[in-house]
Amino acid sequence: MTAVELSGKVALITGASRGIGYGVAEALIARGDRVCITGRNEDALKEAVEALGADRAMYVAGKAHDESHQATVVERTMETFGRIDYLVNNAGTNPVFGPIADLDLNVARKVFETNVVSALGFAQRTWHAWQKDNGGAIVNIASVAGLAPSPFIGAYGVSKAALINLTVQLAHEFAPKVRVNAIAPAVVKTKFAQALYEGREAEAAAGYPLGRLGVPSDIGGAAAFLTSEQSDWVTGQTLVVDGGIFLNAGVA
Ligand SMILES: NC(=O)c1ccc[n+]([C@@H]2O[C@H](COP(=O)([O-])OP(=O)(O)OC[C@H]3O[C@@H](n4cnc5c(N)ncnc54)[C@H](OP(=O)(O)O)[C@@H]3O)[C@@H](O)[C@H]2O)c1
Repeated sequence: MTAVELSGKVALITGASRGIGYGVAEALIARGDRVCITGRNEDALKEAVEALGADRAMYVAGKAHDESHQATVVERTMETFGRIDYLVNNAGTNPVFGPIADLDLNVARKVFETNVVSALGFAQRTWHAWQKDNGGAIVNIASVAGLAPSPFIGAYGVSKAALINLTVQLAHEFAPKVRVNAIAPAVVKTKFAQALYEGREAEAAAGYPLGRLGVPSDIGGAAAFLTSEQSDWVTGQTLVVDGGIFLNAGVA
């Protein structure tokens, strides 16, 4: 197969060895971008880079909240590709299930550290390394859980609401150079969400007006739009990509 002509643009996508992040990487590579992907498991990253094409993709292994990892990712991407036009803050965690009344506060801190503070760290570093002088776009992968009560995953919902507000703060501060938007998916079929639909997918999908659960390419398409010229006048927004599930809120 002939490779798509290079666009000249480069994206840094956190948490992208599988799932939504990988779907975003595929979508951006399909239009000619090069990508740096991150994750904790190096073998999974190697496999992902091989599948994406080693001439278009690179990886750096590490934990999203680790500041030295953040610094290394940005440095290595700049060394390899010479620029970082787009940052997609996708790495996220949701380690507990239960009432927020009994939540261990150390777990709450960990959720914030990974889902919110890491995104800020990557945004700061990408801004200083490239975007403040050259422009670009940031996309934060939030969740519908950040827009409404999310029973039994409350801390996760609160952290995604904070990520949505971080999107607004950064959009204001980084304008006009850099546009910053978020995507709020409902259930997308990945390892992360497996427990919500495994063995009962038809039942889980029945509540969705569009009749199915999401797949990573649904979010890849939205991220490609928010990092393209087609969205040049869009900043500070949260694009809900949810198969219409929020429409149910209007049904008595
Ligand atoms: N799936 C859904 O239904 C859904 C809905 C709304 C929002 N989201 C959000 O979408 C994002 C991606 O979720 P997903 O469903 O694609 O999950 P996934 O399939 O489990 O993939 C997560 C990816 O992130 C990496 N990762 C996980 N924790 C990390 C950490 N602390 N530091 C660096 N990398 C890390 C994983 O690799 P390693 O395990 O090797 O680190 C993997 O590559 C998350 O922010 C999630 O909150 C998901």
